[in-house]
Parts: sequence; C-alpha cells; structure tokens
Amino acid sequence: MCDVNENVSFPLFRLKHMKICCIGAGYVGGPTMAMIAKQCPDIPVHVVDLNQERIDAWNSDHLPIYEPGLDEVVKEARGRNLTFSTRVDDAIQEADIIFISVNTPTKTFGIGAGRAANLEFIEKCARQIAKNAKGHKIVVEKSTLPVRTAEAVKRILSSECSGATFDVLSNPEFLAEGTAIDDLLNPDRVLIGGESEDAIETLCSVYARWISREQILTTNLWSSELSKLTANAFLAQRVSSINAMSALCEETGADIDEVARAIGSDSRIGPKFLKASVGFGGSCFQKDILNLVYLCEHFGLREVANYWEQVVVMNDYQKRRFSEDIVKTMFNTVSDKKIGIWGFAFKKDTNDTRESAAIYICRDLLRERARLCIHDPRVPEKQIRQELLLACTDMSGHLTEKDRWLVENNISIANDCYEAADDAHAIAVLTEWDQFKALDFEKVHASMHRPSFLFDGRNLLDQAAMDAIGFEMHSIGKSSNRKNRPSS
Ligand code: UDX
Ligand code: ADP
Repeated sequence: MCDVNENVSFPLFRLKHMKICCIGAGYVGGPTMAMIAKQCPDIPVHVVDLNQERIDAWNSDHLPIYEPGLDEVVKEARGRNLTFSTRVDDAIQEADIIFISVNTPTKTFGIGAGRAANLEFIEKCARQIAKNAKGHKIVVEKSTLPVRTAEAVKRILSSECSGATFDVLSNPEFLAEGTAIDDLLNPDRVLIGGESEDAIETLCSVYARWISREQILTTNLWSSELSKLTANAFLAQRVSSINAMSALCEETGADIDEVARAIGSDSRIGPKFLKASVGFGGSCFQKDILNLVYLCEHFGLREVANYWEQVVVMNDYQKRRFSEDIVKTMFNTVSDKKIGIWGFAFKKDTNDTRESAAIYICRDLLRERARLCIHDPRVPEKQIRQELLLACTDMSGHLTEKDRWLVENNISIANDCYEAADDAHAIAVLTEWDQFKALDFEKVHASMHRPSFLFDGRNLLDQAAMDAIGFEMHSIGKSSNRKNRPSS
C-alpha cells in the first residue's frame, strides 16, 4: 500500500513554485480557480475538463457560464497564470495541489436511486490521480460530498503503487451562483478540513493572499464534509419554511412579505433567505438534502431523515401549488391558451437551470396542454428544450410520445418578454431578473387577452401598479390569490 498522509512531512507552503490544478471546469471549478489565479499571479493554475466544448468556451470570449464579473477576472489571469485544457494527466503530474471539482449528481439508478450522490466521477478522478501522480500531492475535495467520502478517496489513491504520497483535504465551496465573484472575493469564511497540519497550512497560505486568517476555519475532515451539507440544508429549510407560511398567508389574508420583514427584524432570525418564491432550485439544495437523508437512513436515524426530507417535500408542494393555482384561476383550463413564461434560470444572474422550479412548472402546464412561450435573458433554447424533455422522462428513461410531442410543438422561445406576452392569456414570472421590473407594462397589457392574468412566482412586481394597469395579478403569499379564483 502507498502512503496517504502517513506522517510524511512536506512543508509545501514553503515551496517557491507551487502549482495548482483543478479537475472539473464547471460552475464551481471555473470561477474558483479564476479567482485563485487572479489573487496569486505567481501560482500557475491549470483547470482541466473532459468536455472539450466547455474548455474551448473557457478559452474564448464567450465563457460557458454566465456570472457577473467573471469575464474580467478570467481576462486578467488567462494566458498569465490561468490555463484551461483537456490535458488531465499532464495537469495532475505537474501540480502540487489538485482540486477535485467534478459533478456529484443524485443517483438515478441502483441502490439509493433518487437520494444518494453518484460518486462515479469522483472515483474516476481519484483513480486518474493515483495513476498519474509522482512525488507528493495535496488532493482537495471541492465538490459537495457525502460524509466520509475522503476515506474512499484516500483508499483509491493508496491503491496504485506509483510511489506518490498524498494528503486529502476537504475544502467545500460556499459560493452562490449569480454572486460567485463577490462570494469568492469576500467570503464569510473558508473551511478547510484535514489531518495533516502541513497540508492544511499549504492550502491556507493560498487563501491567505486575500482572506484574513480569522476567516479561514480549520476542522477535521468529517466536520468539513458535514458542514457543507448542513449549511445547504439550513438555507433550504429557511426557504421551505417561508414558502410553507406563504400558503397560510394566502388563506388568512396575511402578506408573506410583511411577515418576512417582521420576523427578519428579530436579530436571532435575521432577514436573509426569507423571500417566498415558486420554490428553490439549483444544483445543490435538493441534491444535498437528499444526500443527507440517505446518510441518516444509512445510520438508522429514521426521524432525522424524515425531518430533513420534509424540506424537499415542501418545495415540491410549492412548485405544484403554483402550477395548479394557474390552472384553477384560469377557469380550470389552460388547454390551447398561450402562457408567457418570464425566466427559466433557477435564480437571477445565472444561466444555470439545474433543478430550476421553472422546469417543473412548465412541464405541468404543458401536460395541461398550454402553449408556452418562454423567454430567459441568459438561457439558450437548446438548454430549455433539453431540460423539459428530461423532466418528462421517468426514472427508467422512458419518455412518452405525447410528452415529446408537447415539448416539440407547444413550446416556443421568445427573444424578449414582450414577444412572450404577445397574444397571451397569462404571464408567469419564474425568475427574478431585474430587467423584468423595468418593462413597459402598459404595452405588455395591451398585447394580451382579457382578463390579463399575471402570476408572479417571485413577488418581483409591484401589485398596486399592476392592478392599476388592469392586470389580474396573483403573487406568492398574498390573499388576492384566493379572492379572484373561481370555484372549481
Ligand atoms: C447555494 C448556497 O447558497 C451556496 O452557499 C452553496 O455553495 C450552493 O448552494 P445557489 O444554489 O447558487 O447557492 O443559490 P442560492 O442563492 O442559495 O439560491 C438557491 C435557490 O433558493 C434559488 O432557486 C433561489 O431563488 C431560492 N431562494 C433563495 C428563495 O426562493 N428564497 C430565498 O430567500 C433565497
Ligand atoms: P459544479 O456545479 O459542481 O461545478 P458542473 O457540472 O458545472 O458541476 O461541472 C463539473 C465538470 O466536471 C463538468 O464540466 C464535467 O465535464 C467535469 N468532469 C466530470 N468528471 C471528470 C473527470 N473525470 N475528469 C475531468 N473532468 C470531469
């Protein structure tokens, strides 16, 4: 067996010519490495990915992900000390620190399907590192992983007797999409979990170039892995809690935004993450909670598993509730009615659509035979159609002919919000893009059928102003929803 942190002392932080590589050029790996390269001009940072198209985009003027401020950061460092390529083996051989930042989606097959994380890509990375490494390497888990994955990574690394030695660290990323650059520049904290003081100090010395030492927390490996899952579970829980209250507000005449302001003023609760919505999306929240649920079940903690699972159950309810409310309000049928969809990304300022609430709302409306005209400022048509086809496909990979027909024929893509709303019976706001607030709503209203329904899934638009123009507006957690709905 080869060495994995077997008391080898490699004071790498004293190395003059440290080199970094990152396997996985996605939403986490790309921006994080770009920031490290920007802040540490003397450290070569090589980002590698198997996906040639993605790498080509990183090397072009059209980066594969949209993130405010990212273009400038990449432009500053690319060609100086930031490189993107598909040369995974070379990058591993040359680097002192290897970040693993590959995708860890929810398993769709076999044991733990629908809950456990699929660690196939992590394992493949670890094997590739083991095969190519020479000398001593620090391997850093960046991807969110189930607790004790580092154990598996260590075993794989030690299985190839190439003479290399390894330290494994957990350094979860807490950036949120849309604000990634600011989150990387001014993080609340950086978390590094590990066993080797030297390895931890080496990684600390990288972040310490721009982040104060007090903000760099160090823990053992397992605390670090679990802290990431816990942080996402708590954040998602807040969104589900406020969304649960939004349903009660609609029944009682309370206003969810007023309730959020009132409770958020309590310093123990705080004002952030209390925005009622059509449901949370993104690549992390649902995946990490299901992962946590699976972990708890594995350890026989059924009550704990049930507790966290409710956060996802509530989120599914919120999404379903929104599409059902649209159908009920529009006289119990949306068949052959045009509905303009504003926004498809899971939140503003990103082109990411993974687990976006919009996918499921559009799917449900399609199955009610609505004609959807979708506009998102950053999401391309191909991605929208792919997501909808995937959402209509069941766990065994089966897509019905009817669903395929609906996605191909009842979806059109608009260049702007006006086109999406033109001749429509309703508009549904599904992403809170700022530019949606600045539209000419008189013009929008004039182009629509009467009554002109406006379903605001983000409580983005001003209710009084929309009422004055003549829209019949329905927001999340406002009692007007009940008042205007015909009985079914
Ligand atoms: C999240 C975590 O915030 C981040 O720390 C972690 O690294 C990755 O997962 P992200 O998914 O990019 O980040 O975005 P986030 O801002 O957390 O929003 C997640 C979802 O919750 C979005 O769909 C958003 O619209 C929704 N949300 C968020 C609400 O509906 N209401 C809120 O008050 C906050
Ligand atoms: P995240 O949001 O966690 O960054 P993404 O899906 O955006 O996830 O990015 C993960 C990237 O990792 C993808 O571009 C994928 O091609 C890449 N990847 C997965 N496995 C490997 C591997 N073994 N070697 C190199 N890149 C990989």
